[in-house]
Amino acid sequence: MRMEKNMHFLSFLLIVLQCGMALGQKTSNVDELLNWCLDAKHHKKLPGPEGDLFKQCTPWKRRACCTEEVTRKIHEDSPYSFNYNHCMHQTGKAMSRECHKHFKQDHCFYECSPNVGPFVVSEKRSWRKERYFNAPLCASDCEAWFNSCANDYTCTDNWSRNFEWLESSQCSSDTKCTTNFCPKGADCKTFKEIYQTAQNFCEKVWDHAWKYTNDSSPCMRLWFDGIRENPNDLIAKHYAFQIAGAESLSGSLQFLIAMVVLMWTVY
Ligand SMILES: *[C@@H]1O[C@H](CO)[C@@H](O)[C@H](O)[C@H]1NC(C)=O
Ligand SMILES: *[C@@H]1O[C@H](CO)[C@@H](O)[C@H](O)[C@H]1NC(C)=O
Repeated sequence: MRMEKNMHFLSFLLIVLQCGMALGQKTSNVDELLNWCLDAKHHKKLPGPEGDLFKQCTPWKRRACCTEEVTRKIHEDSPYSFNYNHCMHQTGKAMSRECHKHFKQDHCFYECSPNVGPFVVSEKRSWRKERYFNAPLCASDCEAWFNSCANDYTCTDNWSRNFEWLESSQCSSDTKCTTNFCPKGADCKTFKEIYQTAQNFCEKVWDHAWKYTNDSSPCMRLWFDGIRENPNDLIAKHYAFQIAGAESLSGSLQFLIAMVVLMWTVY
């Protein structure tokens, strides 16, 4: 009788520990974490080589989650009909080329990167079931992005959530499409006024996709030449092993508790 009770207690402990582990990442398998493509509208199932990716997305072509078609759309309009010139109607100004260039690079990373596994969380939206959360972005890449956009205009800090998506007349003829408009009553201001700092910008614009991270810590690069390795492969490895390490620690803890409970039952 006592034995049975203890076994129940043991199962309970194991379940608690398992749940604790499952909360953060979707797996602790290093191989899977290092070969992850988001479950989202345009992504491939698994990363692999692409013959030719378009312009700024080229550095990912040796191992990519994107197809050539998507990378072409990133440059020609936007795979989501996202309107970067959403302040045009208030300010008469389109987004500067330099600023747009950084957003395109960020978009290449979003569609193409096979390195986001350690940061993937679930999300329920019509166009994706997964996103990355608090991925470490190197401070210098973030600063360069923000500096290029400082004098451009926007009307909201949280671009993932705050825009109104309405039908647009500017869409190409195929099917109906919607595009983003400023929230009602939102005034266009400069990025500098809306965000103040580079860190605030990088972390808020895509709702915590990025975490501003000191260059001297392991962090992701938006800009790399792609002739050599993708520098983010190493960074992903660092975080994947950290996750696997935490998991094996929790495994050891489970073993220890199992032994203690077993000895307690037997003696
Ligand atoms: C963006 O908006 C969503 C929904 O309102 C909110 O939950 C989230 O905290 C916001 N993120 C930021 C960075 O402000
Ligand atoms: C970045 O890390 C270096 C070395 O650890 C440190 O000296 C520096 O103060 C840090 N910078 C910031 C902005 O935290």
